[in-house]
Amino acid sequence: MVHVGSHETDRPAKEHANTAGSTLIEVAEVNAGYDNQRERTRLIALRDISLKVTQGEFLAIVGPSGCGKTTLINMIAGFVKPLSGVVKVRGVPVDGPGADRAMVFQDYALLPWRTVERNVEFAIENRRGHVPKPERRARIANALQLVGLAGFEKSYPHELSGGMRQRVGIARALVGEPEILLMDEPFGAVDAMTREAMQAELEKIIAETRQTVVFITHSIDEAITLGDRIVVVSSRPGTIREIIDIDLPRPRFDERNDIKRSARFGEIRSHLWKLLSDEALGAKWGSVARQEGETA
Ligand SMILES: Nc1ncnc2c1ncn2[C@@H]1O[C@H](COP(=O)(O)OP(=O)(O)OP(=O)(O)O)[C@@H](O)[C@H]1O
Ligand SMILES: [Mg+2]
Repeated sequence: MVHVGSHETDRPAKEHANTAGSTLIEVAEVNAGYDNQRERTRLIALRDISLKVTQGEFLAIVGPSGCGKTTLINMIAGFVKPLSGVVKVRGVPVDGPGADRAMVFQDYALLPWRTVERNVEFAIENRRGHVPKPERRARIANALQLVGLAGFEKSYPHELSGGMRQRVGIARALVGEPEILLMDEPFGAVDAMTREAMQAELEKIIAETRQTVVFITHSIDEAITLGDRIVVVSSRPGTIREIIDIDLPRPRFDERNDIKRSARFGEIRSHLWKLLSDEALGAKWGSVARQEGETA
């Protein structure tokens, strides 16, 4: 655990998630990658990843493109299996997707033949512990309201903008009220103003529901404003470069919105910039090394 600077003053209002509560997600000594059957090569995406996420924690993940962030979150979701090591939720090895985890995908993953409300309903229709129809309706309406899509219930995905599609994905993840929210660049396709409004909304929802969130982003500011901790992943093969505690008070979105102007915010931001620009340069050199014959 690395602390940036020595400030210990601005403790969060919420008890710090890293020291309170129990471990909900554990990634232990995980290597991950993909086999190319045709060329008989194996691409190593992640190397030796060990990480614990505490119940109620908001964990942000940043790192250069292609470093394995989506691979990591897909392993927690149960869509991808590690090559070695183990991912556990509540101490039980993950063996596929489950209703306790919901994913907001980087590429939306909507069903094009279904309307907005039917896409959201998808998350709760085939559940054990059947949700009765009237309650389903209310929950769908509530989720769409939260992401600002009320009035678009009957629209089809092709009739929406990229940002609106992404918001359908978020509503779909929220509607099932999962214990764990897995979000892969969920605000990547929305404009800056909407993005900030949605960040604030997400912070509010999480404060209420106490959901645990794993959140991938390319935005340093977003990681700092939302995260309890930030995991910095190195360029591929991704390793954990550093884990940074974000000791800023909550709520971080207030009327005056002065968190971003605080000295501590600036300090963390410059530290992250430095780390990530090192990694971006590393990625360039890495691609040269790969041409020189990298395999597994
Ligand atoms: N299904 C797959 N089959 C083969 N290789 C894959 C597959 N998915 C990802 N990869 C490779 O694994 C590496 C990590 O990919 P991943 O999608 O996890 O990166 P990322 O950090 O999410 O990148 P980005 O920030 O661009 O979304 C990349 O080199 C990618 O080419
Ligand atoms: Mg990705």
